[in-house]
Amino acid sequence: MRAAVLSEVDGPFELRDVADPVPQDGEALVRVRAAGINFLDVLIRRGRYPQMPELPVVLGAELAGELEDGTRVMALHTPGAYAELAAVPRGALVPLPDGASFAEGAGFVLTFLTAYVPLTRQVVLRGGQTVLVHAAAGGVGTATIQVARALGARVVAAVGSPEKLEVCRELGAEEAYVYDELPDDLRVDVVADPVGGELFEAAVARLRPLGTLVAIGYAGGLWPELQPAQLVGRNVGVQGVYIGRLLRHAPDVVAAATGELLELWRAGSIRPFVGAEFPLADVEQAHELVESRRSVGKVVLLP
Ligand SMILES: NC(=O)c1ccc[n+]([C@@H]2O[C@H](COP(=O)([O-])OP(=O)(O)OC[C@H]3O[C@@H](n4cnc5c(N)ncnc54)[C@H](OP(=O)(O)O)[C@@H]3O)[C@@H](O)[C@H]2O)c1
Repeated sequence: MRAAVLSEVDGPFELRDVADPVPQDGEALVRVRAAGINFLDVLIRRGRYPQMPELPVVLGAELAGELEDGTRVMALHTPGAYAELAAVPRGALVPLPDGASFAEGAGFVLTFLTAYVPLTRQVVLRGGQTVLVHAAAGGVGTATIQVARALGARVVAAVGSPEKLEVCRELGAEEAYVYDELPDDLRVDVVADPVGGELFEAAVARLRPLGTLVAIGYAGGLWPELQPAQLVGRNVGVQGVYIGRLLRHAPDVVAAATGELLELWRAGSIRPFVGAEFPLADVEQAHELVESRRSVGKVVLLP
């Protein structure tokens, strides 16, 4: 099969023939029709991920495709989605809803779990509360806007550049701002933060009493030191979410959340937002789009 192989940190992707994966007991062979790009893939490529895989590696953590009998499936599968075939544990297969495209399916499981688990398992979100979403036009961000709205919250979206504002409003954000233009007096009940760095620090001060900041990622830089006194004094909390490890240590939680998300999709309350599709051969351009902060929604490869 053809796959996009990364052989060294900062190296190019090489599209080449590699051995077909052989499904082991309990695994199914999936013909990959779409593979979602996650920022995780960018971090691995740049050598900035704490759990670096052994290189050479076929990156890609989310896919949608078909089983040998034509059943349409999607899966959180890492690494190995940037390829024509993948051997996926049967327990990880999720049915692709009727009417959904493979590209949408490749932006669902990991992306929406990352939005949904914190807002349903770590934060007690009550209707009418306000959620501030950083990197709101990105993959996790567009999912978080929709999930928060589906749970009855008001959404304030924050993004790095003005051309991303409209998509946030279209997906349901009541307000949308470029980071620098967030009102000084904005106070929120929850912050969903995939960016980290200085934005994370500023967001702690935006929490209302009893509010929670959920740390999701550090696309914009590692987290600053945080002293408990900063939380105690404000009556606020910080939570962290890492779906990969949750899957290993609490698979029942992940399975239940995935089922609930599927129901929301089928009911029309949420839908993966695909901003760009590229053939697998153009993986370099696709990564460049994500890394340069110009992408909106999910960027998807079509093997
Ligand atoms: N914890 C978990 O289990 C989990 C799971 C999936 C993803 N994540 C994390 O969630 C974040 C979003 O992932 P994603 O795949 O959906 O990516 P994405 O949001 O589609 O793309 C990353 C976005 O981060 C923002 N950003 C801020 N500073 C940046 C910088 N210096 N360089 C590049 N981007 C920067 C950009 O949006 P603006 O220009 O609007 O700021 C960019 O579009 C990542 O940090 C990822 O690692 C965590």
